[in-house]
Amino acid sequence: IGARRAYHEKVIDHYERPRNVGSLPKTDTDVGTGLVGAPACGDVMKLQIRVDPTSNKISDVKFKTFGCGSAIASSSYLTELVRGMTLEDAGKIRNTQIAKELCLPPVKLHCSMLAEDAIKSAIRDYQNKNPGRKPTLGPDA
Ligand code: FES
Ligand code: FES
Repeated sequence: IGARRAYHEKVIDHYERPRNVGSLPKTDTDVGTGLVGAPACGDVMKLQIRVDPTSNKISDVKFKTFGCGSAIASSSYLTELVRGMTLEDAGKIRNTQIAKELCLPPVKLHCSMLAEDAIKSAIRDYQNKNPGRKPTLGPDA
């Protein structure tokens, strides 16, 4: 077991081949943008979703993460997870689910929290832009 094993292989895979890196046009009305920071370390994550208004499902998703390997892996995995999901389901994703999939150690839990915050923030942004659609997150979400 070498130093490389400090990170789980799934983290390394997502870190070396991150999925869905990029940006969507922020001003499109069907695009929601989430931009969040981790107070613990100052890392920043931008996550964008495009939503199909008829099905309320996420049709496209992109991210950019300025942060550690676990944050990049968490956002990369998250983009794979939410593609095709309804906003309702995507809003229910918990960081513990991401941390479990990637086998993140406790000290890296906040990196997966960044991903949970980012998808919630993107959903909120989409809903603010499309106020006619029924809210899918609670008032305190
Ligand atoms: Fe430095 Fe996250 S604390 S990259
Ligand atoms: Fe801060 Fe990973 S160390 S997001």
